[in-house]
Amino acid sequence: MVATHSLRARAWRNLGLLIHGYGRTSQNKLRDAVGGRTVLVTGASFGIGEATARRLGAAGATVLIAARSSEPLQAVADAINAEGGTAHAYPTDLTEPTEVDTLVKRLIDEHGQVDVLVNNAGKSIRRSLARSYDRPQDFERTIDVNYLGPVRLTMGLLPAMRARGRGHIVNVSTQGVRPFPVAPGWSAYLASKTAFEVWMRSMALEVRGDGVTASNVYMGLVHTRMSAPTPSLSRLPGLTPQDAARLVCDAIVRKPRSITPWWSPAVSVGNTLLSRPIETMLGTVFRRGEKGSAR
Ligand SMILES: NC(=O)c1ccc[n+]([C@@H]2O[C@H](COP(=O)([O-])OP(=O)(O)OC[C@H]3O[C@@H](n4cnc5c(N)ncnc54)[C@H](OP(=O)(O)O)[C@@H]3O)[C@@H](O)[C@H]2O)c1
Repeated sequence: MVATHSLRARAWRNLGLLIHGYGRTSQNKLRDAVGGRTVLVTGASFGIGEATARRLGAAGATVLIAARSSEPLQAVADAINAEGGTAHAYPTDLTEPTEVDTLVKRLIDEHGQVDVLVNNAGKSIRRSLARSYDRPQDFERTIDVNYLGPVRLTMGLLPAMRARGRGHIVNVSTQGVRPFPVAPGWSAYLASKTAFEVWMRSMALEVRGDGVTASNVYMGLVHTRMSAPTPSLSRLPGLTPQDAARLVCDAIVRKPRSITPWWSPAVSVGNTLLSRPIETMLGTVFRRGEKGSAR
């Protein structure tokens, strides 16, 4: 019985890896890329950010971690340090501009430079417009944490990277931005994630000549506390935070412009050719689901 359960769990995980992709970079290659380097990971108190920070710490990076919850954040730093790595926790609310400015100043004062920035912190909201008419804060919060905060942080660290002629910036984006077109119920989240993804791609063109590179990771479903409240997502095959961290580390080592799942080009072509029926179908499925949950 137990063996059947673990076989099923393994098959389910492998299906998640097949669909959403997996990082191929070995720990040795990661060590070559980040050993002795300073890497800032935002949103490292939980989920993908925590797993990424731990993987980087094990590979010899000096890991700087930021998020709001100071106790879990410090616990992540303590765990990395206890395993022989080097980590420093910086409790910060990315939606507060003064806190972001203070973070940038402290990082430069205390570490001199940040070699790699992983913009991972994020907030997702799944709510229909009908339930959002009197909730402008949903749009403000998502744009603050998913767009304005990371822009301010990146802008704070870019001048030193450009002056040194070296630096890499990773954005943990979502397949909801690419290759999927639009998704009813996710407007606040996807608009804010799209804003930062477009900003990143435009920024990359400006700074490339100064030796600074940028990667967008179009992450699939990852089973974290972010996806947990949506029951339909919990039932789908997805990645573990550790699998997702491997993809982020791939972006740090290989520095590609983007990491997308293997089926992304086919879906993009399908979206272009069949956008109208796909959007009609998405709208119908969403309305039926809303009626069902109202009943
Ligand atoms: N899970 C998925 O299926 C999925 C799929 C595609 C993309 N992503 C992206 O992956 C990233 C990480 O998500 P996750 O699934 O690991 O979610 P998670 O477990 O909820 O972690 C989110 C992290 O962001 C931090 N954060 C939230 N608001 C913040 C703020 N105002 N200031 C500073 N830090 C803040 C949280 O820490 P505090 O609460 O302590 O501040 C936490 O460490 C997000 O950008 C998300 O959009 C996730």
